[in-house]
Amino acid sequence: MTEQSQAIKDQFGRPLKDLRISVIDQCNFRCTYCMPADIFGADYPFLNKEEMLTFDEIIRTAEVFASLGVEKIRLTGGEPLLRKNLHLLIERLFSINGIEDIALTTNGVFLPKYAMLLKEAGLKRVNLSLDAIDDEVFQSINSRGVKTSPVLKGIEAAEEAGLQVKVNMVVKRGMNESQILPMARFFKGKGHILRFIEFMDVGNVNGWENSEVVSKQEIINTITEELPLKQLAPNYYGEVATRYRYKDGDGEIGVISSVTDHFCDTCTRARLSADGKLYHCLFASQGYDIRKLLRQGITDNMFKLEVMKKWSTRGDRYSADRAEGKLPIKEKIEMSYIGG
Ligand code: GTP
Ligand code: 5AD
Ligand code: SF4
Ligand code: SF4
Repeated sequence: MTEQSQAIKDQFGRPLKDLRISVIDQCNFRCTYCMPADIFGADYPFLNKEEMLTFDEIIRTAEVFASLGVEKIRLTGGEPLLRKNLHLLIERLFSINGIEDIALTTNGVFLPKYAMLLKEAGLKRVNLSLDAIDDEVFQSINSRGVKTSPVLKGIEAAEEAGLQVKVNMVVKRGMNESQILPMARFFKGKGHILRFIEFMDVGNVNGWENSEVVSKQEIINTITEELPLKQLAPNYYGEVATRYRYKDGDGEIGVISSVTDHFCDTCTRARLSADGKLYHCLFASQGYDIRKLLRQGITDNMFKLEVMKKWSTRGDRYSADRAEGKLPIKEKIEMSYIGG
């Protein structure tokens, strides 16, 4: 934390450390578990340019959050590389006092075009989504007929540019659990961390059922049968993935288990949508309209006070509530809108 920053805590004593910024709500894929094609069709009301925060507005917001203790920024979408000139935003975010880590979550297909620019702008790492190594399975998930090779080329481009790469695979029963081992085999020894993500009940449109969740334990058992694993300690406070290394020393994997083993107790993340709404949880319903404050000409001090006030009343712990059977029944924001 920088000298100027003030640590603020929420109702459960959790500090504000990370800001996940969605820069666009559109995507070139239509993954069945995220943006089902029948719902996200040609007439879907995506945000228009005027509705989205400008780079100046994002920078101002990030500066205020950095002054309140945020050290890590993650850019998400939809697909963030669909936002024009993203590298220019990254360059500016890097110059903010207190920001130590900036990362990008992407489907990877535009990385051959942008990886070098992103690296030159200061980006150090990317998390890429790839839910299968088999073309047919992958095509049936992304609903756009895209084979795995454009994503694999994205990974190569990121490597060549000197970016650190993690690979995210959402595991959903009946969709791709047969790909757990093939993915593990494929990425073992390649130097990238492959993370398996339990299918989550984000949003309202992905038809989530508990029976479709492949648990962390099941994922680990499947891999361990062929490739023995040993659990590792977290890299940092509040890391979402449980880490494991292969016993033969040939790499690391992670499992993100929001359903069967939640990590709400250490959740330090605020989220900003592309239209400038602030959310305190991935499963939130109501956002706080930052864009309105900015466009009404709020001063930095007042802006800071508002964010502090909001964070200090934060009581979100959705996955913990789910685990305790205390699920609130409510409309939730969509994954493609808030970026995960
Ligand atoms: P690192 O900084 O590399 O550890 O990234 P990350 O894992 O925090 O970010 P990424 O965008 O790669 O997210 C991977 C998965 O974790 C996605 O499915 C996210 O939706 C999920 N995830 C990230 N943060 C949270 C969270 O606070 N709550 C829940 N439930 N899931 C989260
Ligand atoms: N459950 C778990 N992960 C999801 N993602 C998108 N939708 C879901 C869901 N319902 C993942 C994407 C990407 C990350 C940002 O979130 O595949 O890796
Ligand atoms: Fe798929 Fe990610 Fe696009 Fe959602 S945002 S449709 S998970 S590529
Ligand atoms: Fe944080 Fe909400 Fe995820 Fe829990 S469910 S870890 S509170 S974002």
